[in-house]
Amino acid sequence: MKVGIVGTGMVGSSAAYAMALLGVGNEIVLVDANQKLALAQAQDIAHATPYATTTSVRAGGYGDLADASIVIIAAGVSQKPGEDRLALLERNVEVFRKVIDGIMEAAPGAILLIASNPVDIMTFAAQRLSGLPASRVIGSGTILDTARFRNLLGRHLEIAARSVHADILGEHGDSEVAIWSWATAGSMPIIAFAEEIGRPLDVETRKRIAVEVRDAAYTIIEGKGSTYYGIGAGLARIVRAILANERAVLTVSQVTPEITGVPEVALSLPHIVGAQGVAAAIMPSLDDDERAALQKSAELIGSYCGNLSL
Ligand code: LAC
Repeated sequence: MKVGIVGTGMVGSSAAYAMALLGVGNEIVLVDANQKLALAQAQDIAHATPYATTTSVRAGGYGDLADASIVIIAAGVSQKPGEDRLALLERNVEVFRKVIDGIMEAAPGAILLIASNPVDIMTFAAQRLSGLPASRVIGSGTILDTARFRNLLGRHLEIAARSVHADILGEHGDSEVAIWSWATAGSMPIIAFAEEIGRPLDVETRKRIAVEVRDAAYTIIEGKGSTYYGIGAGLARIVRAILANERAVLTVSQVTPEITGVPEVALSLPHIVGAQGVAAAIMPSLDDDERAALQKSAELIGSYCGNLSL
C-alpha cells in the first residue's frame, strides 16, 4: 500500500521513519518543494530499513503519488519558540492551496491525513479545498496530546501507558480538554485505581498533568526548536489503523456538522478509524466542566473556520 507524504521537514520525515521501522505501508513516497531535501530524507530513511522492514522509501513529484491510499500533509511553517499554533494559519492556508491541488490531481482517491498546524483549522481548510467527504480528511488532532496524557499518567501510576485509556479532546492547542470522567487504568476508573495503588490523582495532580500535556510542545520547542518524534509516531498510528482497517478508536480531528452546538467545526473527538477513513464520531458523555471546556474549544476553532476565505 502506497503512502505519500507532502512536506518532508522534521514532522513528515519522522512519520516516514516511524512507518518504515514499524512496517506501516510498504511504499512511502516523499514529496517536497525542496526536492533536494525530499531526496536526502528518503535516502537516509531507506538506509534504516534493511535492519527493520522491506518498506520502500523514495522521493518523487506529485505524479508519484498516483494510487496512494493515504497522503499525509505536513507541509508549511511550524511554531517558533513562544509562538502558538494559530499564528501559523494564514501562511499555511496559502501553502495548502497549492499542495491540495497537486494531490487531488495525482491521487483523487487518497485519504488526506493533515499534520500541519493549526491542525484542526488546516483539516477544515483541506476538506473545503479538496471537496472530499469529511470522513476522508483526517487531522492528527489530539492523537499526540492523548499520547502525552497517557504517558504522564502511566509514569504517575507506574504502569504501562498502554494500560491507560484517557483522552484529550477538542483543539490540538491551548483550549484542549483533558477528560477524566471516563479515564480508566486497566478497566478500572482511573481515580479509583490511583487511590487503590496509593498514588492518588488529587485535584492538584490532575491539574498539573493536564497543564504539562497542554504545554508540552512549548517546552520541547524551547529545548530543541521543534517537535517531531511524538507526532511522527501518532501519524504512523493513524496510517496503520486505516491500512489495516482496524476500526480503532482514536482522538483525531474531522470536520463535524455540530459539536456542543457549534456548527461545521473540525475538532478531536473519539473517532472510529478504518479503511474508509473516519467511520463514526463518538460524542462521549462528559461532566459539566468537561462539556463547558469542549464547548469553549469548539467556539474558538469554529470562529476561525467560519472566517476562512478559501
Ligand atoms: C506538537 C505539535 C505537533 O504538539 O503541534 O508537538
